[in-house]
Amino acid sequence: MPVTAVLSGRGLGKRYGVTTVLDRVDIDVAPGDTVAVTGPSGSGKSTLLHCLAGIVVPDEGEVWLDGERVDRLSESRRTALRRDRIGFVFQFGQLLPELPAVENVALPLMLAGARRGVALRRAADWFGPLGIDGLQDRRPGQLSGGQEQRVAIARALVAGPAVVFADEPTGALDSVAGGQVMDLLTGLAVDTGAGLVVVTHDADVAARCHHTVSLRDGRVVAGALSTQEAS
Ligand SMILES: Nc1ncnc2c1ncn2[C@@H]1O[C@H](COP(=O)(O)OP(=O)(O)OP(=O)(O)O)[C@@H](O)[C@H]1O
Ligand SMILES: [Mg+2]
Repeated sequence: MPVTAVLSGRGLGKRYGVTTVLDRVDIDVAPGDTVAVTGPSGSGKSTLLHCLAGIVVPDEGEVWLDGERVDRLSESRRTALRRDRIGFVFQFGQLLPELPAVENVALPLMLAGARRGVALRRAADWFGPLGIDGLQDRRPGQLSGGQEQRVAIARALVAGPAVVFADEPTGALDSVAGGQVMDLLTGLAVDTGAGLVVVTHDADVAARCHHTVSLRDGRVVAGALSTQEAS
C-alpha cells in the first residue's frame, strides 16, 4: 500500500450469489484524512465499509490497515484488529443500554486492559470536547439522538484507533444536529490523526470530508475533490 495510507483497499470485489456488489474498488485513506463514501441505496457502501473493516472478507483484492493485510487474517485476528485498531460509529443502537454513558465510552479501554478507574477517567475527559459534559451518568435511553452519537464518537475514538468507520452516523438526526455531529467526528479524527471513512447518502455530510468516493452498482464512479480541496 502507499506508505502514507493507513487504510488501503485494492481491487476489491464482492459477490453475493450471482450479484456483484463490489467491482474492483480502490480506496486510500491517510492518517487524519476524512473520506466520504456516497452512492444510492444498494450501491455497496456498507459492504465496502465491512470489507475495509475486516467484518466481511472480499472475494477479490487486498485490504491493508495500519500495515496489516486484513483480508488474509484469521477471523480471530480480524476480531482483535477491530477491537484494537478500529473505531465504529453506526446510525443508532450501538451503545449498551444498561450502562451509563461514561462506561460505554470506557469499554474499549477496559477491553484493551486498562484498569476500571483509569478507563473511566480517560473516558470522562471526552465529554467536554464533545459538548456533553454532565451527561456521563445518563443511560443511552435518557439521551437525545445527537447526544447519543456524541457518546458513540467518544467511544470510537477513546482507545486511539488507526481508523474510524462511520455508517450513516447522522442518518437518524435532523440537519442541524447532524452537521454538529459530523463536525465533531471529522474534527476529532483530524486532531487524533485517525483515518475516517464515513458512509452517507447525504451531500452535506460528504461535503464535510476531504475526499468523496462515489459508488454506483459496486463501482467507483468518481473520487471527487471536496469543496475544501477545490477552493
Ligand atoms: N449478506 C448479504 N447477503 C446477500 N446480499 C447482500 C448482503 N449484504 C448486502 N447484500 C446486497 O448487496 C448490495 C449492496 O448492499 P449494501 O448494504 O452494501 O448497500 P448500501 O449502499 O450500503 O445501501 P444503503 O444505502 O441502503 O445502506 C445490495 O443489493 C444488498 O442487498
Ligand atoms: Mg448501507
